[in-house]
Amino acid sequence: METITDSWLTEQFYQAFGAGTGTGTGTGTSTVHHFYAPGRVNLIGEYTDFNGGLVLPCGIDRGIHLLIRQTTGHHAEFASGNLPHTARIDLNQTLARNGKEWTNYPVGVLQEFVKNGCELDGMQLYFYGDLPDGAGLSSSAAIEVVTAYAINTLYSLQQSKIDLALLSQQAEINFNDVQCGIMDQFAVAMARADHAIALNCDTLEYTHVPLDLGDYQLLISHTGQRRELADGAYNERVKECNAAVALLKPLTGATCLADISPEALETHGHILSDQLIRRRATHVITEHNRVKMADERLRNNDLTGFGTLMVESHQSLRDNFNVSSGPLDTMVDLALASDGVLGSRMTGAGFGGCTITLIHKDAIDNMIERITPVYVRKTQLQPAFYITSAAAGVREMTGEQ
Ligand code: GLA
Repeated sequence: METITDSWLTEQFYQAFGAGTGTGTGTGTSTVHHFYAPGRVNLIGEYTDFNGGLVLPCGIDRGIHLLIRQTTGHHAEFASGNLPHTARIDLNQTLARNGKEWTNYPVGVLQEFVKNGCELDGMQLYFYGDLPDGAGLSSSAAIEVVTAYAINTLYSLQQSKIDLALLSQQAEINFNDVQCGIMDQFAVAMARADHAIALNCDTLEYTHVPLDLGDYQLLISHTGQRRELADGAYNERVKECNAAVALLKPLTGATCLADISPEALETHGHILSDQLIRRRATHVITEHNRVKMADERLRNNDLTGFGTLMVESHQSLRDNFNVSSGPLDTMVDLALASDGVLGSRMTGAGFGGCTITLIHKDAIDNMIERITPVYVRKTQLQPAFYITSAAAGVREMTGEQ
């Protein structure tokens, strides 16, 4: 792969839109600005965000670059170095969704700005990333947040990064029809190098927790299974959790599942006569509790204890929430049977995508070498492995990177 430098990206931008004049009715009038947002990996706290619970994600050292130039017209033009689809939309017209194209993510963000009364002029946007697509590492949130951050900067809108994360989440909900929580956009916006974010998704209170892993590292393993058709199943989980809260509320007073303790579930769980709804609630309530413990264990440098929680999280996502998949389970099982591994679990929405493994740095090469052929034989899929450190959130890039 090309080394991603500012000058290489600018060259790509010029190839897409021309060096000095831009294309279409838009005339390139100004400088090409360069912004960047990382992907994220969630260490623990899955499907807790839209239930008012805790999550513990961090930024990763792969992400999405956006090069953007304002033009005099009223068209927004989109191109990407990763995908062939391009688009040119009239900002004076109602912005419409275009099938499943990647451009829905930035267009959805522009729509949110327009809804908020921002008058947008023409612009040209070129995206390039090294995040695998469909891998559950929040490439869509990175595209949304980097777009929102760029517009905020270019129009001097003075919105906070948290506001931009919320706006990006609205874009996902309104334009892309996924009833997602705030975790991904928040993580991509607010990540800090060498830290995870302990975020309360109910209040948006957060702290950056030092991710001091000593001799251990985070290994992301991509199953090679794309998260196809996952959006419908995601929205179904949202409905099931809402159904559980509606039943538990009269007995517990809780307005979201994260407000219910494991003990209260034990006492009042009989009201959830539908076993599927009960399992969904069990996952969210126990997972929220696991994040509390995980946060504490990380702060106390108890990586072994942290790893145990990762394993329990995976089991619950697999058995109670039913969002794992054969390849994800295989990847986790193979990792857990390897030397030097403290914990492993699926990460993100599931249904394919990636796992995250906490592994001793000296054991990584061996593990990859040992499990790859077994994994390929069992799943017929080609895995990919990425070692990551916790990286900083959205920002403007200056000069050579
Ligand atoms: C997706 C969503 C997040 C979160 C996770 C599951 O990544 O976008 O809001 O719900 O799934 O934890």
